[in-house]
Amino acid sequence: MKPTVLKRPVQRALQCFGFCAALSLPALSYANYTCELTNVNPWNNGYQIDVQVTNNGSSAITGWEVTLEFPNGADRTGGWNANFTDSGNRVSASSLSWNGNLSPGSSAYFGIIGNHSGDFIEPICSGSDDVGPTPTPTPTPTPPVTPTPPISPTPNPTTPTPTPPGSTPTPPPPTGAPGVRVDNPFAGVQWYVDPIWSAKASAEPGGDAIAGYSTAVWMDRIGAIEGPSDGDGMGLRDHLNEAVAQGAGLFTFVVYDLPNRDCAALASNGELRISEGGFERYKNEYINEIAQILSDAAYETMRIAAVIEVDSLPNLVTNLNEPDCQEANGPGGYVDGIRYALQELGKIDNVYSYVDIAHSGWLGWSNNFSASVQLIGDAVSNLGNGINDIAGFVSNSANYTPVEEPYLSNPDLQVGGMQVKSADFYEFNPYFEELKFVTDWRNAMIARGLPSNIGMLIDTGRNGWGGSGRPSGVSSSTNINNYVNESRIDRRSHRGNWCNQAGGVGYRPQASPYAGIDAYVWVKPQGESDGISDPNFEIDPNDPAKQHDPMCNPNEPSRYDPSVTTGALDNAPHAGRWYPEAFQVLIENAYPPL
Ligand code: GLC
Repeated sequence: MKPTVLKRPVQRALQCFGFCAALSLPALSYANYTCELTNVNPWNNGYQIDVQVTNNGSSAITGWEVTLEFPNGADRTGGWNANFTDSGNRVSASSLSWNGNLSPGSSAYFGIIGNHSGDFIEPICSGSDDVGPTPTPTPTPTPPVTPTPPISPTPNPTTPTPTPPGSTPTPPPPTGAPGVRVDNPFAGVQWYVDPIWSAKASAEPGGDAIAGYSTAVWMDRIGAIEGPSDGDGMGLRDHLNEAVAQGAGLFTFVVYDLPNRDCAALASNGELRISEGGFERYKNEYINEIAQILSDAAYETMRIAAVIEVDSLPNLVTNLNEPDCQEANGPGGYVDGIRYALQELGKIDNVYSYVDIAHSGWLGWSNNFSASVQLIGDAVSNLGNGINDIAGFVSNSANYTPVEEPYLSNPDLQVGGMQVKSADFYEFNPYFEELKFVTDWRNAMIARGLPSNIGMLIDTGRNGWGGSGRPSGVSSSTNINNYVNESRIDRRSHRGNWCNQAGGVGYRPQASPYAGIDAYVWVKPQGESDGISDPNFEIDPNDPAKQHDPMCNPNEPSRYDPSVTTGALDNAPHAGRWYPEAFQVLIENAYPPL
């Protein structure tokens, strides 16, 4: 895929002093806030833009309204976290009830998606009253004072406008300077779009709606580093080169090849075994090879986010009854492997490592939570590279929980004399919402001595659960199970059901959705299977160790509750292989809808 040309007008951030949105929001008459595009992501015919609104004044504001002016037309098709009004080339976005109150220095975040034809030119974001003189059908009130930062009033749509040195008061860090680490690598840069996944997604019905988003690239075996030997495909270096060509400032990939991989299941068993010298191979043929490529000076201005070993350390907390996991809990196992990976990647200044912590439906019970804090906390501490060792943690890739349960936010609420968390579905796990879980996890890690700037990632690729089955309010039942089942947006029959579930695309990838959360990301690419459904399967030539796990068989009882079935979709190929039926379900059940 040829990357779409991205042309930037000179100015991305514009101060909005005094008069912003005064017409529609009188409380803002002394407002002083900036509007900045933190992610501009165009693809063939579409785009996504994330916007950060920051209160730069010295007093709190109770609402905001900003305008995005698109030189080539907006054609917005969706958005989140704001009220939108479309008019000509403009999209106005104003705060919602819950994100309008901004104390000094704090920010709100919203995003939009839309279509474009021809070259994409990113919009200028400004306060609603101070857009430049580009003629549009909307009358433009003249601001009483001209704000100081210059903007290009009529960006030329055919010529990229160079930014004269010194003319931009608050330049966003385009791709980070070599050796300079940032607090949140996901903020303020364009994210890499994997052209292989994007092409597959785009070829599916409705797939264009998500084909332009960033998904992680999985290094799921040693051979994936080099890429297919026939050259038909992409290795790690090909992806990085493509990221440079796209002008991306962020590349996200997954480190996923530990010895005894997937020790408590069968679907993603890996190529390395501890008993066969797997740890040595992991170090020499896998991590060292990856580290060597990432250290190439050609990529030093790009931020590289490494998701470290999905579905691994949590098995050492809860699945030590499995012999493979017992072995993985010893020398040359998961802890040794992950420490080695963090140490080697930590030597590269522009690599940011995020360690997998499963999800709240797995580690949320207090005994699992505290045991994980200790085990994972120890595994990532004292690695020797200072703060470079770990940027944070990532959840929701090895199974997933909704970011919020809007109608069940209080696990301790009493219904019919029972606490909500005591319902069969929750099994006394006090975490229903991934956001709460990762926030508590981050605090626990900081309390244990990790740097206070660590950030969390939540994989929101599959946890949307929209569609016709989504409840629209709180149940009125006084029976605790009915109450929970009628109120929860998580529509699975059991939270442990991890294989090829009929979930839905969740929140779109975006930086800084909440304090302490570096980003919503799509780690597990939609449309890639979790495991083969047929017990009489043929071996996958790329991954001969991958087997059929009964959790991927729609006709089997769930391993975690035999009174319900696995909920897995049928006709699934091996883990990681393209699975159009699953892609379709995720598109149809997307929430927010596509
Ligand atoms: C699974 C597969 C792996 C694949 C990944 C992303 O875990 O085992 O091969 O790359 O999912 O789809």
